[in-house]
Amino acid sequence: MEIDFWQLRWQNEETGFHQPEVNPYLAHYYGHLGPPPVSRSKLRVFVPLCGKSMDMLWLSQNGYAVVGVEVSEIAVEAFFAENGLPLEKQVQGTHTRYSSGNIEIWQGDFFTLSSEQLGDITDVYDRASLIAMPPSMRKDYASKMLELLPAAARVLLVTLTYPQAEMDGPPFSVTEEEVHGLYEPHCSIEKLAVKNTLELEPRFKQKGLTSLYETAYKLKRNT
Ligand SMILES: C[S@@+](CC[C@H](N)C(=O)[O-])C[C@H]1O[C@@H](n2cnc3c(N)ncnc32)[C@H](O)[C@@H]1O
Repeated sequence: MEIDFWQLRWQNEETGFHQPEVNPYLAHYYGHLGPPPVSRSKLRVFVPLCGKSMDMLWLSQNGYAVVGVEVSEIAVEAFFAENGLPLEKQVQGTHTRYSSGNIEIWQGDFFTLSSEQLGDITDVYDRASLIAMPPSMRKDYASKMLELLPAAARVLLVTLTYPQAEMDGPPFSVTEEEVHGLYEPHCSIEKLAVKNTLELEPRFKQKGLTSLYETAYKLKRNT
C-alpha cells in the first residue's frame, strides 16, 4: 500500500490492526528463536512498520533494545504519549528519530532506512508488516529486509492466510510457499505454529471470510 493510504488510516483513526494487548505469539515464541547471536543484554530488536504496537513496550520491559520504523507521525507520537514515555526527537535527513530509554523509532519510510540508522540489530519482529504489503510490493519489502538483516539475525514473522478472493487487503493473505519464495535461500525457515483465528476476528468474518489462519515462523539469516 502506498504511504498516503496509511497516513489517511491514522488521520481517520481507522486502525483496527492495533492490538491493545501484547501479541500472545511474542511472549510465547520469543524464547523459541534459538540461541541468541549475542549476549541477551545486547539483543536489539527491529520492529518494521511498528505503528504504536504495545509489543515494543513488552520487548523494552523485558530488557531488549527496540528499534522501530513507522511512516505515520501520528502513530509515533501516540506510542510515546499513550505510554507516558518522555521522548527526544531529532531530524536526520528524511527520517526523524524519536527515542526514550531503550526504545527508538525512526519516523519515515521503511524502504529508505539504512543499516546505519538501525544499528546492530540481532532480531526482527514482523507482525502485520509483511502482510500489510500488497503482492506487488512484497518482493521489494523482503529484499529491503534482507538488505537490513545482518548474518545470523533471527526473525519472528507472523502472517495471515485466507482465501484472498473473499476479502480485499490489508491485511493480505500470505501463504507458506510465498514466505519460502521471498526469503529462501537467504534464510532458514521453520514454522512454529498455525492457529485457526476466524472466530477471534468477527470484523473479517463479517466481510465474508470462510477461513483464516495465523502462522508464526522463525527465520534465521544465513551467514
Ligand atoms: C497493519 S499496520 C501494523 C502496525 C504494527 N506492526 C502492529 O502490529 O500494530 C502497518 C503499519 O505500517 C505503516 N507503514 C506502511 N507503509 C510503511 C512504510 N513504507 N514505511 C514505514 N511505515 C509504513 C503504517 O502506517 C501502519 O502503521
